[in-house]
Amino acid sequence: MLENIRNFAIIAHVDHGKSTLADRLLELTGTVQGSHDEQMLDRNPISRERGITIKLAPVRMEYNGIELNLIDTPGHVDFTYEVDRTLSCVEGVVLLVDATQGIQAQTVSNAYKAIDKNLVIIPAINKIDLPSAEVEKTKKSMVDFLGVNENDIHEISAKNGHGVKELLGVIIAKIPPPRSQDIASVSSSRMRGSDINQIPDQVGNDNGVVTALIFDSYYDQHRGVIAFVRVFAGLIKKGQKLKIGYAGSEFEVNDVGIFNPELITKDLLSDGEIGYVVTNLKDIHKVRVGDSLMDIKSQKPIPGYKKVNPMVFASVFTVDPGSYINLKKALEKLYLNDSALEFTPIYSKALGAGFRVGFLGLLHADVVRERLEREYDLDLVLTPPQVEYEIRDGQYYEPIAKIFILTPSENMSDIMKLCMDHRAKFITMDNISQVSLSYEIPLSELISDFFSELKSISAGFASLDWEFLKYEKVKADKLEILLNGDPIDEFSEIVTYERSQEKARDLVTKLKGFIPKQQYEVKIQAYYKGKIIASEKITPFRKDVTAKLYGGDRSRKDKLLSKQKKGKKKMKMVGRVEIPKDAFFKLFKK
Ligand code: GTP
Repeated sequence: MLENIRNFAIIAHVDHGKSTLADRLLELTGTVQGSHDEQMLDRNPISRERGITIKLAPVRMEYNGIELNLIDTPGHVDFTYEVDRTLSCVEGVVLLVDATQGIQAQTVSNAYKAIDKNLVIIPAINKIDLPSAEVEKTKKSMVDFLGVNENDIHEISAKNGHGVKELLGVIIAKIPPPRSQDIASVSSSRMRGSDINQIPDQVGNDNGVVTALIFDSYYDQHRGVIAFVRVFAGLIKKGQKLKIGYAGSEFEVNDVGIFNPELITKDLLSDGEIGYVVTNLKDIHKVRVGDSLMDIKSQKPIPGYKKVNPMVFASVFTVDPGSYINLKKALEKLYLNDSALEFTPIYSKALGAGFRVGFLGLLHADVVRERLEREYDLDLVLTPPQVEYEIRDGQYYEPIAKIFILTPSENMSDIMKLCMDHRAKFITMDNISQVSLSYEIPLSELISDFFSELKSISAGFASLDWEFLKYEKVKADKLEILLNGDPIDEFSEIVTYERSQEKARDLVTKLKGFIPKQQYEVKIQAYYKGKIIASEKITPFRKDVTAKLYGGDRSRKDKLLSKQKKGKKKMKMVGRVEIPKDAFFKLFKK
């Protein structure tokens, strides 16, 4: 049986044509017939609209007696760990490069991951039908950067199908059937998240002991969490008692099956296969990517599991305080299906009740915000994203990311300057057909305006990939904004010493522009390390709405006073200063 299975993934930079190639493979293998939607496996409407795949559905195809399992590597920068785990489930990859773009940062980092795992790599150049395709140049950079053999590179058009049949033949011929692997190759390289100690070197493969790696999961309202797995040993059947290796939860298998791409029930999943297992567990956070399914008595989960921790945080409020409950419900719903999302309730004097939400990165934050606003019809205010500092022995430690940038050589010096301006430490550089740069950079710098500046410097040509590296000691402290001496929590944040002046000045100036004159003087001050480091004043202004109503018309006077009172509802007392709620929104919305 194993001889007839091929497990593979397509790795590509965003937009290079992964979903389109998947469509052609589905048609060629007769998995779908007749007309169908484009990008069949890309189900998430937001990801479709933005043209980025958050996650493709896995699919099983049959072709000439061969069972082909295609699973997805999430094609965006916040999911390096998930890519790593997915690659651990396959024996080979199609490395797809857009002939009009050439290789880009994610192409290279994902290819390196596949090389690290000794996977068979089938290189292909896509979009050769386009007049702007630069096939030879792209080929050369693939040879230079990735060390592939020029004669092995396929030239295809996923759009019109040119070369796809041959590619499928090569997938079957070159990618080996699943082997009972030396699981050492399944361990992951250094990724963000907490290391699990005492990882065994080998996974048992004797006596039909079950071991399967979870590469994705989702929550179904009726059936509980459904785990997507690659079986490495044993058989998984309905009724079997299993446990989740690191999380420890035990469950009875409710159903097993394969992806067509709909879920199709099967009698069993066996060694080497890819499919789903209905766990009946209610909490997706206990069925995480990278964890294992295994026998209750087994002590050997698959190594390489990391609990992925959110790296970027924002406070989220609803514009209309009455929608708080809806926001809570919406977050709870998203949480059911997003094991990377975390949130805790908070209360802000100015903005009312809200949540502090943790995300994997900026793109993840953006997608979650968009889903909340669109699917749950909420009007939201998000504070600017922040990182979390660790405090040990009274010292601050900040998260540092490792970034990899690929850029045309003419933008190199500007990009190096951008990195220096963002406190980045140079690691390596290569100048082959494009320049590749790698740096260690504080995550707080990366999530500021780094991405947009990189794109604007290079007219969109430079690309970037990042992963969490470490925490490093940094001179930092809490920057507080005081209004007439009272701190406003909404603007307090940990700021590095180097950025404190700039940040303080920026906040103080902006606030001055947003706070209306009051009946007394308002002092806006930024307080850092025991000192006021920036300040502004708003001069008083006395507004007596009844002043011009001399004479005795009491009812007109009352009317005006009540109108003023209503206006005040839009104002929030922060300390003793009234701030229109709008000021906060404007500040946070940039
Ligand atoms: P992500 O979903 O962001 O990971 O992108 P993807 O790699 O899945 O790319 P997708 O398949 O969505 O293709 C991106 C765009 O390129 C779409 O507009 C496709 O129609 C187009 N495209 C894909 N392959 C080809 C091709 O061979 N030729 C041409 N002309 N266009 C193509």
